[in-house]
Amino acid sequence: MSERMAHQFAIEVKDVSRVYPGPVPALAAFDLSVEYGEMVAITGPSGCGKSTLLHLLAAIDTPTSGSVIVGGRDLASIRDLSAYRRHDVGLVFQFHNLLPQLPALSNVALPMFGTHRSARQRKARARELLAEVNLGDCEDRLPTELSGGERQRVAIARSLANEPKILLADEPTGSLDSASSTRLLELFERLTNGGTTIVMVTHDSDVAAHAHRVIEMRDGRVIVGASTRL
Ligand SMILES: Nc1ncnc2c1ncn2[C@@H]1O[C@H](COP(=O)(O)OP(=O)(O)O)[C@@H](O)[C@H]1O
Ligand SMILES: [Mg+2]
Repeated sequence: MSERMAHQFAIEVKDVSRVYPGPVPALAAFDLSVEYGEMVAITGPSGCGKSTLLHLLAAIDTPTSGSVIVGGRDLASIRDLSAYRRHDVGLVFQFHNLLPQLPALSNVALPMFGTHRSARQRKARARELLAEVNLGDCEDRLPTELSGGERQRVAIARSLANEPKILLADEPTGSLDSASSTRLLELFERLTNGGTTIVMVTHDSDVAAHAHRVIEMRDGRVIVGASTRL
């Protein structure tokens, strides 16, 4: 991988806090480094700050203090954060906002508008991605014509449209049956073998067991797994 650099992490979260009104900060003195090509699973009880961490990495929220560095760039110094969200990270969030009026294929193709890909290339890639998540037969269906698990898989395919170097996924297997979960974890493994870095929140210990490293959080802090596997 050309972007793989010997002494650089894919993700570095340094002494980050995120404080909302309330007694406990969502994140407190939070430190985390993730290698290129590493898949980490974030676990911990509801409210411990898992989604907050993903939101900071996705630059849809900003830290109260500390720095978030992705691919060597401090997010605080990036002017065009919408380009960052569109091209540098893939996002799979719990409420996977598919556009209801568009069929699955168009939903997957959407993030590729305005990129170097032609309409024909966008369609071909969207087809490939839907096939990757085993929804090759569902291209023409609207979100309302898909099950929750199928919609989740469309969202996963969409998150990969622009070949993000970092994939951020909040409970990506949450509404998948076990066969679909297994296939998704196989896809994640192929992605990490290609150098993609994955940060995935999960409550499922069987899913977490597929990660290279499991990070356990409590009250906005890491209690297990902060150091890298190296
Ligand atoms: N937008 C917000 N406004 C106020 N408090 C929030 C907001 N988002 C999260 N929190 C609080 O921050 C803490 C961590 O939330 P979250 O990161 O969603 O936890 P998790 O994903 O681990 O369940 C919780 O106490 C939650 O209530
Ligand atoms: Mg959450």
